[in-house]
Amino acid sequence: MGSLFRKKPLDTLLAQSQTKSLSRSLSAFDLVLLGIGCVIGTGIFVITGTVAATGAGPALILSFILAGLACALAAFCYAEFSSSIPVSGSVYTYSYATLGELLAFLIGWDLMLEYVIALAAVATGWSSYFQSLLAGFHLHIPAALTGAPGSSPGAVFNLPAAVIILIITAIVGRGVKESTRFNNVIVLMKIAIILLFIIVGIGYVKPDNWSPFMPFGINGVIASAATVFFAYLGFDAVSNASEEVKNPQKNMPIGIIGALAICTILYIAVSLVLTGMMPYTQLNVGDPVSFALKFVGQDQLAGIISVGAIVGITTVMLALLYAQVRLTFAMSRDGLLPALFAKVHPTFKTPFQNTWLTGIVAAGIAGFINLGTLAHLVNMGTLAAFTVISIAVIVLRKKHPDVTASFRVPFVPVVPIISAGLCLYLASSLPGVTWLAFVIWIAVGAVVYFLYSKKHSQLNN
Ligand code: ALA
Repeated sequence: MGSLFRKKPLDTLLAQSQTKSLSRSLSAFDLVLLGIGCVIGTGIFVITGTVAATGAGPALILSFILAGLACALAAFCYAEFSSSIPVSGSVYTYSYATLGELLAFLIGWDLMLEYVIALAAVATGWSSYFQSLLAGFHLHIPAALTGAPGSSPGAVFNLPAAVIILIITAIVGRGVKESTRFNNVIVLMKIAIILLFIIVGIGYVKPDNWSPFMPFGINGVIASAATVFFAYLGFDAVSNASEEVKNPQKNMPIGIIGALAICTILYIAVSLVLTGMMPYTQLNVGDPVSFALKFVGQDQLAGIISVGAIVGITTVMLALLYAQVRLTFAMSRDGLLPALFAKVHPTFKTPFQNTWLTGIVAAGIAGFINLGTLAHLVNMGTLAAFTVISIAVIVLRKKHPDVTASFRVPFVPVVPIISAGLCLYLASSLPGVTWLAFVIWIAVGAVVYFLYSKKHSQLNN
């Protein structure tokens, strides 16, 4: 029994973070941009439209605020952990040090679901903008290859989504490094096109479009918050970079909370402008942001936004694939997953097989499952992770009062308890089938743990 709760010694983790050979080069500014690069993607460019049309109406802004609040509380917890245990591995590592091996494994297993499915979901959004851009040049791919079954008439496979994932996989597999400068340029461009949309769009806002404000009632707003939550995901990726940050104790909290704050402001502005520009009932399309611009006659600008979205969404996919590979690499190094996941390619020096396995699975999922279903599953997995990290903060404070953190969650245990409660509340409004899929996934994880991981854990030695 005891071995289920065995923990990775905190001292070892801290020593590991101090002796690491990675160079500490990232500043707080780089971290904020890294965070925004991972966060802004399919959520704001695609899901806003669907949710406005079918779940929230113009009250979409309230859904964004509610989801943003849940993320902000969880972000506090991430900030405390990443400023006290600045090693990569995110929630998985934090749980291993505080909650014990079984929970750490299950949370890693849960994050695998989150990252792989999020990669597929984001690629689906990329595919919508790609097809919208092609359509601008009067080019169309065969209907059967435009989307997952059920997403549009005659569709059987989302070919562009699957192909872009395989391209990203090839890039990551060959060990092309995430370049901070490249990332910063793309992220600044992504922010620029969103600002462009807001500034131009404001001129076309008709307040009449905001009424009725809450056509689906308060329940619609809450259920939609659980869906648009997707748009915020990725800020936790900042905590993965902690071993490469200058002065992590100070800069990690700035990076995580700064990225989240900027995204929240942009999301609120986009949802107000989008629902003000045209009737929400017509927004159920794959490319709502450029669609709204076409609706008001700004065709050229719509084209520019599509190109920006295509490039901008790519950085989210890169970040997700890196996060997934790093996570399974860490779990494999700890002995909890087969050694294959930590096997390094002799020439490329990357976990090559791990990367391709992940890419191929994600491409298959992106081809056959539609965005809505994928987004719900991702959100479920993430809300579970946020709940765990909130609880882990309380455990960290109790069990390791000596650990120094430059950022401390205020009013512990009240804030972490509210954080966990809010996440569970949002999760409760996700569809029953999402819950079922999640429970099955975790049950499979438990079986894997007891049949494999427990026996092979490095902690046995
Ligand atoms: N937050 C990321 C996106 O919206 C996952 O694409």
